Amino acid sequence: MKSRKIKAVALLSVALMILALLLILLTGCASSVPIKEKPGAQLWGENCGHCHNIRPPNSLTDGEWSAVVTHMRTRANLSAVEAEKILEFLQQSN
Ligand code: HEC
Repeated sequence: MKSRKIKAVALLSVALMILALLLILLTGCASSVPIKEKPGAQLWGENCGHCHNIRPPNSLTDGEWSAVVTHMRTRANLSAVEAEKILEFLQQSN
């Protein structure tokens, strides 16, 4: 009788743990945006202010931004897609 109760409690706690894990996994996945879906403005904000003050888009011309992003892409370890999105954002906002 007693061991049955203990078994039930153990089973219940395992089930609860699995449920909690699933919940964490599900909500975790739902709230984080995959990199490739992040807009340029967000990528810019997250990547371009680490080493120096973030330079406002209107501080450079389209051509200058193109050169700078090519240069900063390697510094910031960005993928081609990320760099492209950041450049697009900068050129649209200057
Ligand atoms: C790992 C550090 C680092 C990251 C990340 C970084 N930069 Fe830079 N950035 C530098 C350094 C160092 C310089 C100055 C020397 C040089 O040009 O290499 C610089 C210079 C600049 C300049 C000035 C260029 C000039 O001629 O006046 C601009 C504009 C700039 N970065 C924009 C960006 C943008 C946009 C990003 C994001 C894509 C970025 N940086 C990410 C390190 C970084």
